[in-house]
Amino acid sequence: MAETEWIDLGPVETLRTQPLQQLMARRTRIALTYKDGQFSAISGVCNHVGGPLGDGDLDGDYVVCPWHYWKFHCRTGLGEPGYEGDAVPVHDVEIRDDHVYVNLTPRTRRTRIRHAPHPLARTPQREDGPIRVAGISTTAMTASYPRYSTSDALLEIAIDHAKETLACETQLIRLNDLAFRACEGFYSKSARACTWPCSITQMDPMDQLDRVYEAFVHWADVILVATPIRWGAASSLYYNSSCQLL
Ligand code: FES
Repeated sequence: MAETEWIDLGPVETLRTQPLQQLMARRTRIALTYKDGQFSAISGVCNHVGGPLGDGDLDGDYVVCPWHYWKFHCRTGLGEPGYEGDAVPVHDVEIRDDHVYVNLTPRTRRTRIRHAPHPLARTPQREDGPIRVAGISTTAMTASYPRYSTSDALLEIAIDHAKETLACETQLIRLNDLAFRACEGFYSKSARACTWPCSITQMDPMDQLDRVYEAFVHWADVILVATPIRWGAASSLYYNSSCQLL
């Protein structure tokens, strides 16, 4: 029979003020929920790449990981419908003397579904052939009102030179033509939250940045990035500077 070790997480009065919180019970991370007058505890470590589940949100009965939004039932630990095979351990909870105790030995085990690796995750392999040059235009402009872009013009000259004079293989990607979700700053949450391949590209099959990753990681020997000064949007430096003037 599994050993039990009950750990005092703190007073009920304090812990019930938050619907979800990440707590340490010795060295075990616990995501403690308080919902409908009831405490429950699951592992505070996400199955994906270890996000702190207790720092996420509650969506109904599901704890939503703050890193890439995987969901686990707050009482059963099971993944959301369709992904029940991805489950985090559940810990028993008891109230004694107005304190919340958690059993360090989980009642259920962590289980994982085998997720097929994303095609971008393959090992890059360079076949023989001419030098490959990828150009990327980062100019942003309104599609129905195109204007002359100096950085685009320079990029086209460079790509033409690589192709015609240097006999390179070339490709030109215009970010403006692609549909993609902007970076959501996962790196700012944790270096481990910024994954390869990008978690946004993995979770959104319509994300077209895979073309850029494909070109940069699996194809090009040379990468030319053409950018206007401010990428079509005020940078944070710009923004901060303008705030100083107010
Ligand atoms: S969804 Fe939890 S770590 Fe990625």
